[in-house]
Amino acid sequence: LSSRASAPVPRLWGRYLNLDDFEAAARHRLPRAIYGYASGGAADGGTVRSNRAAFGRWRFVTRILRDVASRTPARTLFGHRYDVPFGIAPMGAAAVAAFDADVRMARAARAANLPFVLSANSITPMEAVTAVNPDIWFAAYLPPDAAHIDGMLARAAAAGIRVLVVTVDVPCGSNREAERRNGYTMPLRPNARLVADGIAHPRWLLGTAARTLARQGVPVISNIRPRGGPGLFSRRISYIGGDGAFTWDHVRQIRRSWQGKLVLKGVLSPADARLARQHGADGIVVSNHGGRQLDGVVSPMDMLGAVRDESGDMAVLIDSGFRRGGDILKALALGADFVLIGRPFLYAAALAGEPGVRHAAGLLRREIDLDMAQLGLATLQDIGPDCLMPHPAMR
Ligand code: FNR
Repeated sequence: LSSRASAPVPRLWGRYLNLDDFEAAARHRLPRAIYGYASGGAADGGTVRSNRAAFGRWRFVTRILRDVASRTPARTLFGHRYDVPFGIAPMGAAAVAAFDADVRMARAARAANLPFVLSANSITPMEAVTAVNPDIWFAAYLPPDAAHIDGMLARAAAAGIRVLVVTVDVPCGSNREAERRNGYTMPLRPNARLVADGIAHPRWLLGTAARTLARQGVPVISNIRPRGGPGLFSRRISYIGGDGAFTWDHVRQIRRSWQGKLVLKGVLSPADARLARQHGADGIVVSNHGGRQLDGVVSPMDMLGAVRDESGDMAVLIDSGFRRGGDILKALALGADFVLIGRPFLYAAALAGEPGVRHAAGLLRREIDLDMAQLGLATLQDIGPDCLMPHPAMR
């Protein structure tokens, strides 16, 4: 790996040197409504910013003169040895930003041997995604309806899903003012702004919008119904935004029926981590949904230690704002088992398809590798709080 890590960046990719470079390019290359949907947060967007700032509250303490000539950032999770300690977070409606985004991200994830989490809100049926990557995880939004839940679990099991992620931080839709301002709707409906914006972004209009519409006739959400096939975006979508009636009782039901791994995504309180454990979850994702649900909510990094303490044997994953290898190592040092990353992979898919996603993953892998050497770590086995120091201003 060290030779791979120090290999020169291919010229084609010279402009994307880190994950933020994808965001900057996507801002120019996608219509405002689409970029705004992907990048935006709830209300003023304060949480999106504070998620990034949270990493600055810890600094690394290097270790010297250890043998780090041969290093590996591999991590085993849910019985699978992944090449890196990060994966791709679920993102609904990804295909409005990048043609066939879910399939492209799933393919890239397979090539890079990292997990890809498919969203219930995706436009592509889960069966089409497991066909290219049988190891994907599935992130369900489930309604408070026993028969419907069992039907969805049966569909996921039949598709070969082993890891079911239940997103639990969407009791209702959130206040996304920017989406309203930009004319973003779900399903995407042509409006004056979108049409004008689309004409100004012909690459998106012809490469993504037209091809998606041509393939599917109409935008569909395919993974919220027990049976496969296109499910029209419709009134039934209401529960994706949640009606507030999904509770721990439903988690209990899911645990009884679901044979695979069960992960609850969107935990921030240590008390909820304890409840997740008591309800038989195999893992949790400490997350504020990338700042998209509640403006002013705490950053997952600031809760990680306390949540870890209540998590027992559960796997603790974390997301929201991770952009650098160093961010990932800080979370692992504080006790996370794995990190998920959302937006940058979607931008990479929109800008350069599957190779773009692979490149983004490679950049992060390289950053982790270089940072591991500085920290005196040949593997991630021994990473712990001793390699971090709170920022002096925080003590
Ligand atoms: C999301 N996220 C999300 N989460 C989920 O559980 N189900 C979903 O359908 C979606 N949809 C979705 C769409 C888009 C466009 C984005 C950007 C995000 C949240 C996602 O899984 C993850 O928690 C955050 O994106 C992580 O933050 P970063 O890495 O994007 O900062």
